[in-house]
Amino acid sequence: MNIQEIIIKKRDKKELSKEEIEFFVQGYTKGTITDYQAAALIMAIYINGMNEQEIVDLTMAMANSGDRIDLSKLETAIVDKHSTGGVGDKITLIVSPLLASLGVPIAKMSGKGLGYTGGTIDKLQSIPGYRVEIEEEEFIQNIQKIGISLISQTKSIAPADKKIYALRDAISCTDHIALIASSIMSKKIASGADKIVLDVTVGSGAFMKEKESAEKLANIMIQIGKLAGKETVCILTNMNQPLGYAVGNSLEVIEAVQCLKGDLPNDVKEVVLEIGSYMLKLAGKGNNINENKEKLKKAIEDGSGFEKLKELVKNQGGDISYLEDMNKFKKAEYILPVISEKTGIVTKLDAEKIGTISCKLGAGREKKEDKIDESVRNCFK
Ligand code: URA
Repeated sequence: MNIQEIIIKKRDKKELSKEEIEFFVQGYTKGTITDYQAAALIMAIYINGMNEQEIVDLTMAMANSGDRIDLSKLETAIVDKHSTGGVGDKITLIVSPLLASLGVPIAKMSGKGLGYTGGTIDKLQSIPGYRVEIEEEEFIQNIQKIGISLISQTKSIAPADKKIYALRDAISCTDHIALIASSIMSKKIASGADKIVLDVTVGSGAFMKEKESAEKLANIMIQIGKLAGKETVCILTNMNQPLGYAVGNSLEVIEAVQCLKGDLPNDVKEVVLEIGSYMLKLAGKGNNINENKEKLKKAIEDGSGFEKLKELVKNQGGDISYLEDMNKFKKAEYILPVISEKTGIVTKLDAEKIGTISCKLGAGREKKEDKIDESVRNCFK
């Protein structure tokens, strides 16, 4: 078997076998398959697609490309959440401390921005000192100590996804069902979650522009979850417009803090309550979704969610004075108010265009190795 034959097969719209998919994933992870060969295959997959069996095989090969985290030491079912990507999506920063404050352990590996969508890791890194890269042992100790840890994917967890994710970003192959499903589910399987809630975004600022494709993505991820023995719930959420009022890394941290202090824009509130209430349900903390929403609202009102966010940031080396005085965050060098030429009401903002502007200004990456400028901010209010 060689990579050229595999590229030819997918280029010519043929089905890849499990062995061929494993050969590619293992070879690219080890470095015996080059970036340009992998780019050719990923582009062929992007154009010609994969059937369900190929997507399952790709996911499992990626999940098995490194170690698996053993969270059994925590002696409780771990519920994880992941979003398929959006603009202004700061839900993890809000929902995770809320859940942890309600006694649900959060052991989460988050991602970096992909294409015009933002990533939780880039947002967390805008808090000076916050360490996103920690070893597995410390990750588990953090959860035992304070009930929550948010980190980036470690080198040994689904390393194939780490490489393919960055490559897809650089070659404009982000918005594809097979590639998204395998990326998300391989990480979730390898990172030890027992149950998974997926926020499947739909609309202009999402990778799935139409409800039908979002449903297809949701169904394949549920099926992969079932095969891997992980209960998986998908919730479709609207991403036609940016979520909340802020887009850009540090500005989204600021908005997340404001939300945890009770000032939530309606769209953010709806997604936080929906995702959070299903996480509570899967964690065995209540089957009634409406009652769960009330628990989340209470954790916002009494400040326990915000206290948990500060505890998390402090525990991972971050400077919590930034969360207490948000004027300390680095300001953008140039600030250009965009003033309407007419009076009226803004009824629509195109999320993809705003995400793209943000990315081009420096909040995202054009090349794998690009550095993020966390002070890039867009704000609509
Ligand atoms: N999040 C991921 O982890 N992978 C994707 O492909 C899209 C969103």
